Amino acid sequence: MPPRVVENTPYYETEQWPGPLSLSNVSTSTDDIITKHISSIDSAECDLYSEDGVWIVDFNIINNQLERWQRLLPRVKLFYAVKTNPDPELLKYLSSHPMKIRFDCASHSEISQILSLSVPSDDIIYANPCKAPSHIRYAAINNVKKMTFDNLTELYKIKHHFPTAECILRFKVSEPTPCDDPSEGAMYELSKKYGVTIDYSREILLHAKRLGLNVVGLAFHVGSGQRNVRTYKDHIQEARRIWEIAGQVGFSFTLLDIGGGFMYSNFEKAANAVNAALDSEFGDLIERGEVDIVAEPGRYVSAPAFTLLTSVIAVKGETEDVGEKRMVYLADGFYSNLQGAYWPGELTAPTVVRGKRLYTPKSTLPTSSASSDSGIEVGDQIEDGDNASVDDQEGGVATLMRGDLQEYTVWGPTCDCMDVVLEDALLPKGIEVGDWFVFKDLGAYSNCTRTKFNGFRMSHKTYYIHDHGVDIGVI
Ligand SMILES: Cc1ncc(COP(=O)(O)O)c(C=O)c1O
Repeated sequence: MPPRVVENTPYYETEQWPGPLSLSNVSTSTDDIITKHISSIDSAECDLYSEDGVWIVDFNIINNQLERWQRLLPRVKLFYAVKTNPDPELLKYLSSHPMKIRFDCASHSEISQILSLSVPSDDIIYANPCKAPSHIRYAAINNVKKMTFDNLTELYKIKHHFPTAECILRFKVSEPTPCDDPSEGAMYELSKKYGVTIDYSREILLHAKRLGLNVVGLAFHVGSGQRNVRTYKDHIQEARRIWEIAGQVGFSFTLLDIGGGFMYSNFEKAANAVNAALDSEFGDLIERGEVDIVAEPGRYVSAPAFTLLTSVIAVKGETEDVGEKRMVYLADGFYSNLQGAYWPGELTAPTVVRGKRLYTPKSTLPTSSASSDSGIEVGDQIEDGDNASVDDQEGGVATLMRGDLQEYTVWGPTCDCMDVVLEDALLPKGIEVGDWFVFKDLGAYSNCTRTKFNGFRMSHKTYYIHDHGVDIGVI
């Protein structure tokens, strides 16, 4: 298992936050919604689950990402990878976007979700090289022809259930260029699981030929969250070699699928690498209009538009018997929206915003009260006004927590010790129950991996920021 996140950039170094929040601002930015949401929750009397995480989705950011794609990779058709974030409002938005977005689906239910939006079956790639037979039958019934494969048995399954499918061979490079820097590379190395090497490509294509199947092209995936953009060149070079082998076997390929792996942070570099490799390796075919180039980005599209706001539901102070670190427990954790905690680099550094604090213990026990025989101090009840005074300090409700930092362990809400969000995190001093954590750029592989573990809820309130205003849903 890869190590967990062990280091968290202090929020003030990231400069992600524009400054203290203001309740008087009425524009519809993510930060305004954060302010209003936090101010509206009073944990002493709120409805069940009101402390749970809420999502804030900004469609202006999605639109920017799509336009950026069109500007920098105009020759590459975008098939959004539904698995990354299947939020129904996001899929609706993409399916009606003027740029004509197509879709990469991994299963029957994703295909069905996309078809229900009136997307033509030709605009779907069933991009899972190892499919359940019943799902192939579903694709056949619905004429979703384009599907990937990377093994012989898959060819027999396709032959049996959908002999007229347009098959796409998934490959991986045998020897990728090593990274100069160990922190480069992919967050998720998908080639461990999928893809044939060039050495096996002739044999599997010959099998496909003998079975009378229609193989129309090639697909690869450089790994999700790819920081080493040179790998696109390696793959596109290898694709051209396999393309030639396919010609020798008797196939006339027409489709090159360059997969995902794109990040919003290094997209310019990745697009330059892709464009240069397409020119040098496929320039002749592109000029003659003999190749359709497509990609399946997921993270690039959805990650930057989604912000998770989740509350602190429990705290163990550093002066209690928990070691040196303060421990906080969030309403969301590894088993809900924060599975990214498991993957180094996936979670952005959170910022912390003060909420309504009602349960802050007094820092010292009262000296005037008598001790009972058991050693428990008596007369230490919370008195009216004790807590109100806490909110009056340090800026009040819905302000960004600033000032000194201290070390924390941040846990999720389940009783499992694997449910750790951040270890050794440097965060503002004195986080209390009722405060809120804000995780920006969390729209990839987050809401789609939620579970019901320990009985927690899988649906969350979601604010959708559109040009026309804010819609609220529950996903
Ligand atoms: C086949 C396939 N296509 C596309 C994607 C999306 O990748 P990314 O989010 O890196 O763009 C994935 C991610 O696992 C995938 O498996």
